[in-house]
Amino acid sequence: MPDNRLISLRAALPELRLLTDAADLEHYGRDWTRRWTPAPLAIALPGSVDEVRAVMRWANTNGVAVVPSGGRTGLSGGAVAANGELVLSLERMNKVLGFDALDRTLTVQAGISLQAAQDAAREHGLQYPVDFASRGSCSIGGTIATNAGGIRVVRHGNTREWIAGMTLVTASGELLELGRALVKNSSGYDLRHLAIASEGTLGIVVEATLKLTDPPPPSSVMLLALPSFEALMQVFAVFRSRLQLQAFEFLTDVALKHVLVHGAQAPFGEPHPYCVVTEFASDPASEAEALAAFEQCVNDGLVSDGVISQSEAQAAQLWRLREGITESLARYVPYKNDVSVRISAMPAFLAETQALLRREYPQFEVVWFGHIGDGNLHINILKPDGMAQDAFVADCERVTKLLAGVLQAHGGSISAEHGIGLVKKAYLGCTRSAAEIALMRGIKAVLDPNGILNPGKLFDP
Ligand code: MLT
Ligand code: ZN
Repeated sequence: MPDNRLISLRAALPELRLLTDAADLEHYGRDWTRRWTPAPLAIALPGSVDEVRAVMRWANTNGVAVVPSGGRTGLSGGAVAANGELVLSLERMNKVLGFDALDRTLTVQAGISLQAAQDAAREHGLQYPVDFASRGSCSIGGTIATNAGGIRVVRHGNTREWIAGMTLVTASGELLELGRALVKNSSGYDLRHLAIASEGTLGIVVEATLKLTDPPPPSSVMLLALPSFEALMQVFAVFRSRLQLQAFEFLTDVALKHVLVHGAQAPFGEPHPYCVVTEFASDPASEAEALAAFEQCVNDGLVSDGVISQSEAQAAQLWRLREGITESLARYVPYKNDVSVRISAMPAFLAETQALLRREYPQFEVVWFGHIGDGNLHINILKPDGMAQDAFVADCERVTKLLAGVLQAHGGSISAEHGIGLVKKAYLGCTRSAAEIALMRGIKAVLDPNGILNPGKLFDP
């Protein structure tokens, strides 16, 4: 029997594209976490800002919860609809709206993929430098909602740095132009930055003006083999002091094993416990510095082997070793930690965390990798075949509580770049003080008094 809310929505917005088939509810009701059973009311696919506003006016009047939805590649349950919410997918709103050569900005609808935005910037001889493996499927709106990071943060910073302006639809359907792409604007609170990383709890990003920059120089990729965890931050210090790094990523032998099983090519003849993928300009001076840094690290016993790309194809092959990890682990539905500390706190934090995980997870395979140059570690715990998902998650939650304590002691964050969503809301207090969380709740109450925007994400209503 059709839900009364659906009858009301159809009557209020007869032109709105709505999906209600079981397969669509399942497809649009989940993200990459795969932990919750999708159960949305329906999927709304508006084609314009006016339609988004009309949906929000209807939802606000009728007290219907709305889950904003981009590419649903999130890893924290931020886009999950498991409680009869209306999913508001921006996927039809995926166009480039304009380019300004003087401002060096690209204005896009929020449903455009990161890859399409990058390509559009490239066509104008410029670069949108936010970048990560799910570029082809994630949406710009989703990257804003989570302040996405990725593999170039060490050089260019997070998404926050690249949003010159955005258009936000509030819970009541009001339209806010935030930032207006002004370089200078000291006119009070910058609501744009409040919306970035708000995970769809404060409004729906419908359009964004992205800052662009010079295209990257032709680059070389170097893969380094390291004998120990302790060497990691020392190698980073050497390379960073000699070169302008475009990326500095690490993975363990266990991560490498999974990518190789998934079809990547083995880079070295023998196994090494840790690898680093780093990228820098391929001009002769930078390459000479890179080789000197490599030799210095070898002489100091910090690096045991290395490969430098000789072609774009080889660079892509080396990148695959790092970028293919998430996909190669997907079949295990891993439990993911995405944590960060200051770079200076990394050595002590790494040592303590390694000891903690060795002690607490003797029975599970633990895969470490991440953006070590940003102080951001990804720890993926793999569920053994045959183990019940609930029991596995419960054990991982127990250890995450301990990890949260270590993070708190080192002044770190329980979410570096994936967001809090449903997955980490129980641990928000390890990163944010009670006073901060109270203020966040207050802000939410002002912008969304009826609590209809992505309820239960970030914190409980
Ligand atoms: C990545 O950097 O590959 C993802 O953010 C990490 C993950 O899948 O845990
Ligand atoms: Zn990452």
